[in-house]
Amino acid sequence: MKKKIAVLAGDGIGPEIVPAAINVLEAIGAQCGHSFEFTSALVGGQAIDATGWPLPDETLNLAKTSDAVLLGAVGGPKWEGLDYERRPERALLGLREKLGLFANLRPAKLYSELADASTLKREVIDGIDVLVVRELTGGIYFGKPKGIEATATGHRGFNTEVYTTEEITRIAKVAFETARKRRKLVHSIDKANVLESSELWRKVVIEVHKDYQDVELKHMYVDNCAMQLIRNPKQFDVIVTTNLFGDILSDEAAMLTGSIGMLPSASVGSEVGMYEPIHGSAPDIAGKDMANPIGMIASGAMMLRYSFDLVKEADLIEESIQKVLAQGYRTKDIEAPGTKLVGTKEMGELILKNLGQE
Ligand code: IPM
Ligand code: MG
Repeated sequence: MKKKIAVLAGDGIGPEIVPAAINVLEAIGAQCGHSFEFTSALVGGQAIDATGWPLPDETLNLAKTSDAVLLGAVGGPKWEGLDYERRPERALLGLREKLGLFANLRPAKLYSELADASTLKREVIDGIDVLVVRELTGGIYFGKPKGIEATATGHRGFNTEVYTTEEITRIAKVAFETARKRRKLVHSIDKANVLESSELWRKVVIEVHKDYQDVELKHMYVDNCAMQLIRNPKQFDVIVTTNLFGDILSDEAAMLTGSIGMLPSASVGSEVGMYEPIHGSAPDIAGKDMANPIGMIASGAMMLRYSFDLVKEADLIEESIQKVLAQGYRTKDIEAPGTKLVGTKEMGELILKNLGQE
C-alpha cells in the first residue's frame, strides 16, 4: 500500500515527538511492505512566525491532498497576545472545519503497567477502556452569533451553542457503530435539564438508536458524568457528546490513565483523517528531550487503523508500546519508583526496537 501523509509538527514539543512517530511508521511500512510518503508543512505558531497566519493555504492544500494528516501540537505563550483569529489554536479549528472532521475519537485505555501513575486507586481504574466520541465541528465552538460588543457600561461577550438534527445524527451513528465493535454500550452526555440544544441532542440520539437496538443507550447529564468518571470509570464504554463537553470530559478521562502524554486521538468524517495526541504543546518542557512521545506514536497507530484499515500494523505498534512499558522504561510524566527514566528520543528508539519482536 502507498500513502501520502501530511506532517504538521507545530509548536513546543511537537517537533520532538513527531519524528518518533515517523520512524515507527517507516519501520512498520518496511516490515509489512507499505510505503508512506511524508511531506511537512507549517502550522500554528511556527506558521504565524513565518507567514503571519496559523493555517497558511499551502498547509491546508497539502492536508486536503494527502491521505491522512499527522499533527503534533500547536500554541505557546509567545502567541497568546494575538487576536483570536490569528492564534495558533485557530489552525486546529480550521483544519477540523475545512477537512470536515466532525467526529473526534479519544480512547482512554489504561496500560496496567501504569496503574500506579494515576491519581486514582488501582482498583478504581484497573481495566478501564473508555472511548470519548466528541462532536468536533459544531456546538459553541462554531455557533453564530459570537463576538464581543460594547454596552453602555462595558462589554458583552457571547457565543452560541447550536446543533442541528443532521449534526447530531451523524455523530450518534459514529458512536453506535463504534460501540458495536466494543462492549455495545453508549452513554450520551448532555445538559438536557437546562439547554434546548441538549433537549434536541437527546431526542435525536434516541431516534438514531432505533437502528442500533443491539447497543445499549444511556443518558447522563454532563455534571454527573464528570463525577462518575472519577467515581467509577469502568461503567463507561463509549461516551458520545458535544464539542465543548467532549473537550472537557476527554481531558478528565485521559488523566485516569496516569498521564495525558499517553493518549492519541483520531479526527474523522471525510476522506482525510487527522491524527494527533490529545495533549498540547507543553512549552514548559519543550526542547528538553523530556516529552512523552507515546501519545504521538499511538496516534500513528490510530491512523493505520482508521484511515488505512491496517489493523495488524496498528496492533504491532500498540504491542510494542506495551512491551517497552513492561520492560520498565518511563518518561518523566509516568516515572515511578523502580522504573527506568528515559528521554523522548530514547523512548522512541525503544518502541522502534521492540516492533514485531516476540
Ligand atoms: C483539544 C484542544 C483544542 C480544543 C484547542 C487547542 C483549540 O483543547 O483538541 O482538545 O479545544 O478543541
Ligand atoms: Mg482540549
